[in-house]
Amino acid sequence: MKIVTIVGARPQFIKAAVVSRVLRSVSKAREILVHTGQHYDEKMSDIFFKELEIQRPDYHLGVGSGFHGAQTGRMLEAVEQVLLEEKPDWVLVYGDTNSTLAGALAAVKLHISVAHVEAGLRSFNRRMPEEINRVLTDHAADMLFAPTRAAVENLRRESISEERIHLVGDVMYDAALYYGEKARRESRVLERLGLKPESYILVTIHRAENTDTPSRLQAIVEGLCEVGKSIPVVFPVHPRTRKALERHRLFDEAVASLRLIEPVGYLDMVMLEQNARLIATDSGGVQKEAFFYRVPCVTLRGETEWVEIVELGWNRLVYPHSANAVANGITEGLASTGGMEGEPYGNGRSGELIVQRLLAV
Ligand code: UD1
Ligand code: UDP
Repeated sequence: MKIVTIVGARPQFIKAAVVSRVLRSVSKAREILVHTGQHYDEKMSDIFFKELEIQRPDYHLGVGSGFHGAQTGRMLEAVEQVLLEEKPDWVLVYGDTNSTLAGALAAVKLHISVAHVEAGLRSFNRRMPEEINRVLTDHAADMLFAPTRAAVENLRRESISEERIHLVGDVMYDAALYYGEKARRESRVLERLGLKPESYILVTIHRAENTDTPSRLQAIVEGLCEVGKSIPVVFPVHPRTRKALERHRLFDEAVASLRLIEPVGYLDMVMLEQNARLIATDSGGVQKEAFFYRVPCVTLRGETEWVEIVELGWNRLVYPHSANAVANGITEGLASTGGMEGEPYGNGRSGELIVQRLLAV
């Protein structure tokens, strides 16, 4: 079976690393890897290929940044060429980025079957670009790999037929287990940054709704700076966020009170997560990793797709409408002792389940 995998953005490299490792161990499958080039900085792309031992992409489309229509359009055209050339049996796409949508759309138009890993997630916020990408990709896909029961329910509510839905758990949990140990052995990030375990807060911010509205970004920066007076705040800055901080003239204020650092590789990130006192984020992946390592989390958004962690009490949603809301939400999070136990994301073998199901068709 010939499978073309489409990746392009940071979290997709991590998810694909899990499934590709299994795919490559199976003689029945041949994987062709396509990198759209949506993320291209060394610390947003190459570092993951090296650390996670992902094969070099067979095709690098070099699409880069741009408005949604232009970026997705360029990807669509370039992916179509690859599919015409390779004529695969399946196209495998991950998550909810513009690379996901372009891959799925290019494939269905050529009558090539699509498998979607991380299907069924919904924020029910149609202003999120990712929400549109998810809905369209799920409805184009032939095989939908849902990570959670809630995701399965969302797909059923949208009348997606039962035989297309497969509850397999979350590939990011597989990654957390596999690389968590490796990070503890190999990462020296705590020494490099002079940090002691449980003595700092780890922050990531990159959602369009938080970076592109100046008042929202200002509320987040000022709230974090307030918290930074009593505990160090370590903040690996996504390039989108760095540009927004500069554009909205918030960079100097942030750098004066927070430990702003470049984006880090996955092993350093996992090490920073495991040892944080609390994680504050708007990232989907980071919310879950906080839970995998049982670190309390504050999600700086009005809603989340990963409702299980909120229900278990490990994650609290804090809508960042003001600096006070952010600072108070984090202070309350710091006072919490965690949440209940539960395993809503499978047993760490999602990659194997996905490959089994794919090869069974
Ligand atoms: C994208 C995904 C988002 C995902 C995130 C993971 C979409 C619509 N959004 O958001 O779902 O959570 O990736 O990180 O697909 N930039 C660089 N260097 C890079 C990459 C980006 O400087 O290597 C800057 C550019 O100014 C670019 C901006 O970041 O315009 C945004 O990049 P883009 O890939 O469009 O969206 P993300 O915010 O990264
Ligand atoms: N991540 C990383 N380095 C960083 C920030 C994040 O390796 O500096 C990892 C993080 O551990 C998680 C993934 O990137 O596995 C999440 O990606 P991101 O937050 O960019 O996107 P999202 O999950 O929100 O789509």
